[in-house]
Amino acid sequence: MTNVAPQSKPQKTVTLTDNETGKTYQFPVLDGSVGPRVIDIRKLYAETGMFTFDPGFTSTAACESGLTYIDGDKGVLLHRGYSIKELALKSDFIEVCHLLLYGDLPDAQQRKDFQNNITHHTMVHEQMQFFFRGFRRDSHPMAVMVGVVGALSAFYHDSLDIDDPKQREIAAHRLIAKVPTIAAMVYKYSIGQPFMYPRNDLSFAENFLYMTFAVPCEPYKINPILARAMDRIFILHADHEQNASTSTVRLAGSSRANPFACVASGIASLWGPAHGGANEAVLQMLNQIGDKSRVPEFIKRSKDKNDSFRLMGFGHRVYKNYDPRAEIMRDTCYEVLNELGIKDPLLELAMELEKAALADEYFIEKKLYPNVDFYSGIILKAMGFPTNLFTVLFAVARTVGWISHWNEMIQEPTQKIGRPRQLYTGPVERPYVSLEKR
Ligand code: ACO
Repeated sequence: MTNVAPQSKPQKTVTLTDNETGKTYQFPVLDGSVGPRVIDIRKLYAETGMFTFDPGFTSTAACESGLTYIDGDKGVLLHRGYSIKELALKSDFIEVCHLLLYGDLPDAQQRKDFQNNITHHTMVHEQMQFFFRGFRRDSHPMAVMVGVVGALSAFYHDSLDIDDPKQREIAAHRLIAKVPTIAAMVYKYSIGQPFMYPRNDLSFAENFLYMTFAVPCEPYKINPILARAMDRIFILHADHEQNASTSTVRLAGSSRANPFACVASGIASLWGPAHGGANEAVLQMLNQIGDKSRVPEFIKRSKDKNDSFRLMGFGHRVYKNYDPRAEIMRDTCYEVLNELGIKDPLLELAMELEKAALADEYFIEKKLYPNVDFYSGIILKAMGFPTNLFTVLFAVARTVGWISHWNEMIQEPTQKIGRPRQLYTGPVERPYVSLEKR
């Protein structure tokens, strides 16, 4: 697999002055191909004896990457240079997977080969189905996902050597192909229906809908508009730079853990409501609001620092403008509801909420716009997915992003274990106090 990341070259420097000692230090400034410049502080501790302090990594570039570029102020998202809008409207998920993993869109033969490879890895080891029986049927689907995806490491020993590029490639194909099968199995298990084996004559999205919604006793007719919407939802969630779950995968992988275990750690991180769990939380919030007349009350609550209520699906660490994915998601939402002839009062409520928030001084000042999760829950609900499966769908799509980042990291010649430092504020050394004196 190729890595098309441009090599950054130090061109300029910045000077740091320590006011306490009067000493000055120079640090190189690196230019990426586009985006903010980066101060190279790798020698900071060695030269100054100081660390940097950046909880939440709001100002820290943790790695060099050539996969995805985001300009949060302008609302731009590019994968390997292609805009998310063009990819969502003109491409399909299998091509986007190739783009992320190999660095470029496939030509006709590459596409055929790649699709063939993914299709022929969709079945999971037959033994894996027995694994499910250990879970309660009312488990949260993400709890089962973390366990079963992690368990792939126990089944595919022939793709665990992370120093072998061929094994890394097979592991990537296996993950992209098998995570949807596991996700569909998680759903089937939760509702007590038989697992549906994948079908090789279907596209990635069609096959996922089939494995999720078909039953063995009758034919399943795939609705092309729903399949297209599913594919688009997968594209919109495929990658998003160094977000929490991707950074988790990178950190786990930096210790040379195997790719299946690393992706399981990404799934765990994605589960949180501040990240991938937000689309589930949006629907719960809309149900909680219940009616358009209560929108002002909830907008007010979301601004109250003493109230833990936040407007879910609003705000983003990087986007300080409309999330470009939210716009495409909103259009897809209309398409799906139209096709299914559904008039969902939650959509009307969501639109009212968006309108009210975008006109509110607090949201304007803090640059809080709808993110990708704001509309996705409404589409997924209309398509028949239960709320607690939403984050699982996100994990299906993001698997390619995680494994592409992992693969990029493993090939870095300077790759080393991730080991952040800290600002220690605990007690200084003190003598042990024996029990009778405490
Ligand atoms: N509702 C109300 N106020 C908000 C919201 C919101 N959804 N989001 C941010 N704010 C406020 C914060 O209270 C903070 O106010 P302050 O400056 O007075 O303290 C300010 O805006 C900045 O917000 P932070 O939380 O500091 O920003 P951060 O970058 O840490 O958080 C996050 C981003 C987690 C996405 C946040 O906006 C949020 O919780 N949103 C709701 C959950 C959500 O939709 N998550 C999905 C993210 S997209 C994804 O993962 C695919």
